[in-house]
Amino acid sequence: MGPDAYRTAGLAAALSGLGHQVTDLGNIAPAPHAPDAESGAVFAPNQTIGWTSALAEIAEQTMADGLPIFLGGDHSLSLGSVSGVAAYAASVGRPLFVLWLDAHTDFHTPQSSDSGNLHGTPVGYFTGRSGFDGFPEVAHPVPQDNICMIGLRSVDSAERQALEASAIHRHDMRDIDENGIAGPLAQFLKRVAAANGLLHVSLDVDFLDPSVAPAVGTTVPGGATVREAHLVCEMLHDSGLMTSLDLVELNPFLDERGRTAHLMVDLCASALGRRVFDRPTRSYT
Ligand code: ARG
Ligand code: MN
Ligand code: MN
Ligand code: MN
Repeated sequence: MGPDAYRTAGLAAALSGLGHQVTDLGNIAPAPHAPDAESGAVFAPNQTIGWTSALAEIAEQTMADGLPIFLGGDHSLSLGSVSGVAAYAASVGRPLFVLWLDAHTDFHTPQSSDSGNLHGTPVGYFTGRSGFDGFPEVAHPVPQDNICMIGLRSVDSAERQALEASAIHRHDMRDIDENGIAGPLAQFLKRVAAANGLLHVSLDVDFLDPSVAPAVGTTVPGGATVREAHLVCEMLHDSGLMTSLDLVELNPFLDERGRTAHLMVDLCASALGRRVFDRPTRSYT
């Protein structure tokens, strides 16, 4: 339902109004896959394998044509989107960086997950953690040092352990409260620019505070404000670095008169150039 809610909220018109040429490729179907057992420790692993292969393929293809925006739906879609974008980056000989805007780190493996929800595993997958039996092999894992997470406020203990042993750059809400959100982001964007990297941005609805974005199954209080989120998106546009984007975890069933979908559309528009006033070009090099 997520993609249709974005269509209804006017995503395509918002972006074409900014002068972009927008193509809606429609809903993607998962690749053929084995049936899933009715119950198990992990929810719908085979279907997710099907989604991962289909999305990785379309991600790699669409990167050649423009800036793909992946609409969801469950954050497990990023197993496919990011691994496909990584394959494209490798094919053009450029490093891939990932900005993860989320309350959660999604760094589990199917084995370490307590909930069995694969939306908790995409970062584990595309960084090449083991334990993803039956999933497509990750030919081009994203280096940990190329990943920046902002908005964190709910991290399971197995994830915390693995993260602390990793080189992933992580900013929790305390960090944002003490230092603001612009500093850590600018620092990361500088690194992307210096490396001539591609930048994939994954925006989980629960990055935002539930009071402004209720339409997500995994709300955590104390999230980013509307202003912080727009600032992030405006800086992304100023940088000119973003090359692909996920808008994920929107559950329209939980929305209130479409306000979460509309906010996400507005944020996406900011990331693609909507602004109140022009400013001198910022450089992140
Ligand atoms: N860490 C929890 C889990 O693994 C929550 C993950 C939430 N992730 C998300 N994409 N909503 O189940
Ligand atoms: Mn989910
Ligand atoms: Mn989340
Ligand atoms: Mn997430």
